[in-house]
Amino acid sequence: MLTVKNVSKTFNIGTVNEKKALDKISLTLEDGDFVTVIGGNGAGKSTLLNMIAGVYPIDCGHIVLDGKDISRQPEYKRAKLIGRVFQDPLMGTAADMEIAENLALAYRRGKPRTLRWGVTKEEKVKYKEELKRLGLGLEDRMTSKVGLLSGGQRQALTLLMASLQRPQLLLLDEHTAALDPLTAKKVLDLTKEIVEEQKLTTLMITHNMKDAIQIGNRLIMMYDGKIIYDVRGEEKKKLTVNDLHQKFREASGEEFSDDRAVLI
Ligand SMILES: Nc1ncnc2c1ncn2[C@@H]1O[C@H](COP(=O)(O)OP(=O)(O)OP(=O)(O)O)[C@@H](O)[C@H]1O
Ligand SMILES: [Mg+2]
Repeated sequence: MLTVKNVSKTFNIGTVNEKKALDKISLTLEDGDFVTVIGGNGAGKSTLLNMIAGVYPIDCGHIVLDGKDISRQPEYKRAKLIGRVFQDPLMGTAADMEIAENLALAYRRGKPRTLRWGVTKEEKVKYKEELKRLGLGLEDRMTSKVGLLSGGQRQALTLLMASLQRPQLLLLDEHTAALDPLTAKKVLDLTKEIVEEQKLTTLMITHNMKDAIQIGNRLIMMYDGKIIYDVRGEEKKKLTVNDLHQKFREASGEEFSDDRAVLI
């Protein structure tokens, strides 16, 4: 489904701020893989997702999605195939637009534009159904401006938008980190539900070690621009948070340090 081959990225080349964020990374995701990504601050996790989404050009290597080399494709073209949810609830939705209009934008992404702009009756029925499943009462607020929603409501909506047209790949960058614990759990449960139902191939960065172990079928750990541990299936399920610390120490020679990690 996704192949990342020998991809490197150095920021600010030739300056004192030069930083190798990705160091010849290779990663292959099978169709339906749900991979959690952990690693300390600056390990290159967000950069990896940004490279796959086309936010910045890669220095070298290749990225192949569903058999197609997308390494040089611009971000907007990849957006048709890749759904994304970021940490910041303000980023995924348009605040000045209504809930239904936001969903319509997501629904029509990559489709030919019609002459008439407006949300059709059929679309409204569909969006209402989809919103209902979030369990947040948004189905009764379809004409509300998104800017009026809470962070958790916006993240849930962004997630719905990212998966409305089944993406070939879903990228989640700490998408529950800015939410209170209860809302974070809700959005995470919704994530699991959508990913399982649509069998989405997914990369999810998290700072919660327990979530990283419990969620998905595969876990990768990053350090210094490299993947230092890759585990799947039964072996992954059996892991403890202590095991992850141990693996990190073995591979990096350092203690795991991270300002946002949930280490318990
Ligand atoms: N746009 C950029 N310009 C310059 N340097 C960058 C840029 N994006 C990332 N970096 C640097 O690349 C390295 C990797 O950053 P990245 O954001 O990928 O880490 P991360 O693993 O997501 O960390 P965190 O857990 O803190 O989010 C860091 O040293 C960071 O400062
Ligand atoms: Mg990051």
